[in-house]
Amino acid sequence: MPTRILGIESSCDETAAAVVVDGRDILSSVVSSQLDIHRKYGGVVPELASRAHLRQIVPVVREALLQAGLDFADIDAVGVTQGPGLVGSLLVGVTYGKVLATELGKPLVPVNHLEGHVHAVFLEAHLGGKTPELPAICLIVSGGHTLLYHVEAAAGNGNAAMRGFQFRRLGGTRDDAAGEAYDKVARLLALGYPGGPIIDQIAGKVAASGAEFKEKDALSFGPVKIKGNPYDFSFSGIKTAVLYYVRAHPEFVAEIETRKKAFQEGLRKASELLPLCSPRTLSMIAKFQSAVVRDLVTRTLEAVEETGARTVLVSGGVAANSELRDRFALRASPKGVRVFFPSRALSTDNAAMIAAAAYPHLLAGHFAPDDLNAEPNLRLA
Ligand code: KG4
Ligand code: ZN
Repeated sequence: MPTRILGIESSCDETAAAVVVDGRDILSSVVSSQLDIHRKYGGVVPELASRAHLRQIVPVVREALLQAGLDFADIDAVGVTQGPGLVGSLLVGVTYGKVLATELGKPLVPVNHLEGHVHAVFLEAHLGGKTPELPAICLIVSGGHTLLYHVEAAAGNGNAAMRGFQFRRLGGTRDDAAGEAYDKVARLLALGYPGGPIIDQIAGKVAASGAEFKEKDALSFGPVKIKGNPYDFSFSGIKTAVLYYVRAHPEFVAEIETRKKAFQEGLRKASELLPLCSPRTLSMIAKFQSAVVRDLVTRTLEAVEETGARTVLVSGGVAANSELRDRFALRASPKGVRVFFPSRALSTDNAAMIAAAAYPHLLAGHFAPDDLNAEPNLRLA
């Protein structure tokens, strides 16, 4: 009998529900984003996030069931994100999940959000008929995390997505997450929130135009130097370099003000903001992105060499980045290393990945205790 799991995700600013069969086939995946609520603050406001989850969780779950063509009674188990994330946000999903599972008399499976991001890669690869080989090096790169793991299949029968994974943490960010650096730089330059997609698009257009901006005192970034663990990351230096550069050039003030006004008037697309950026700003945006991407790719591929893994898995919101995808492909394929990304929709937070991650735990009988609580600092390894 196929196993239908209802996944619930509420760790940050997306309320999501999905139904996935046997950890592989997505029957529905509904995501209600709170971007419009948080945009004007330039980041996620935790209190507003939990209130929005409270409003959205019931309609989002109903919609996921409707799209899957199922009733509550057809669900075999509920998988819910237990952590890591914002405590108030997590509590909404955990509490709802507990009540629902109890009412239905079905098992509740607590899921680590980060494990969900890894399953997102497998879900997508499965759709394309190509399953990543393990062991792999996994880069989870989002607004809240920049983490590098060595991943193996857990002991047991069946394919890795059924058995689940075993993680060894190689490194993580010591300060800002990569997505956080994108968001902070975008806020500084008045490019809106979230910063990743707009910086990605502008940097892409700059690269495609082939135009080279040659200022005498151009901003430039060397490799990020970190003492100790070579698999740790640090993005605050890159972000601060942008800040100091902007402060050192008073001519940025007027164009930043112009963009703020344009933004208030509703101009938010890259194509609308690009004409409001000076060549110096465009060059800075492109270089900022290249510096972040170069560091992510270099450290990940160093881990690949060191461990002998032949596969890289990249997931999390920043995995949607075009230059990251291109640069990985360019640098990994000559080494015979295959890189797997989820589609953009499954890279950012969603509940299909949570339902998929719940499946091996359901098979292994890892059910939630009655006093299951949200764990804002839950670790993977
Ligand atoms: O995984 P996610 O949806 O939520 C978190 O768990 O944080 O990731 C959101 C982050 C934001 O910081 C956003 O700026 C970044 O992912 N992001 C991107 C792109 N799309 C989203 N960063 C770079 N390039 C993108 N195309
Ligand atoms: Zn996430």
